[in-house]
Amino acid sequence: MKRKIDAFAYANEILNAIGKGVLMTTKADGQVDTMTIGWGTMGIQWGKPIFIAYVRESRHTKKLVDSNPEFTINIPLGEYDKNILGFCGTKSGRDVDKIKELNLHLEEGESVSVPGIRELPLTLECKVIYKQEQVKEAIAPDALQRYYADGDFHTAYYGQITSAYIVE
Ligand SMILES: Cc1cc2nc3c(=O)[nH]c(=O)nc-3n(C[C@H](O)[C@H](O)[C@H](O)COP(=O)(O)O)c2cc1C
Repeated sequence: MKRKIDAFAYANEILNAIGKGVLMTTKADGQVDTMTIGWGTMGIQWGKPIFIAYVRESRHTKKLVDSNPEFTINIPLGEYDKNILGFCGTKSGRDVDKIKELNLHLEEGESVSVPGIRELPLTLECKVIYKQEQVKEAIAPDALQRYYADGDFHTAYYGQITSAYIVE
């Protein structure tokens, strides 16, 4: 069962969880992939509730979200297997089926074609309404040196939150 929530009423839980790691799930060309993200922003743009995820060029996730511009954000609540975030943050969907390897249970999306994940039950369904590649020249020198020495820049994906719920 999906218990509908107001995403902003859970802002504390969501924003605190991001720093520890949450999942971003994508689906395209018959494949579901999920990766750990440690950066994210939630707010309002164009009068819509938005979750922004930052995805590096090298991620398989980028290929999928560019092909099908939707994603879900999957946030743990209470006890969960910490191995999930480690595995999904180090293995690529190019090489392994992370859903199968971890025996994760997918929950069909309501407003998007991308599923949620039962094991990380607080779910934001998002449709990309804007994306922006980071511009090297606009990044402060210290961040540039610390995060982009390898030239693997992020693209910001602005997802309109079209549904939010807890899988119970
Ligand atoms: C704690 C943690 C946070 C991470 N945050 C991000 C992030 O915000 N953006 C990103 O592009 N990669 C991030 N990563 C790296 C990806 O999760 C990792 O490269 C993953 O293997 C990519 O999977 P994919 O190739 O299937 O997309 C993070 C990894 C960890 C462990």
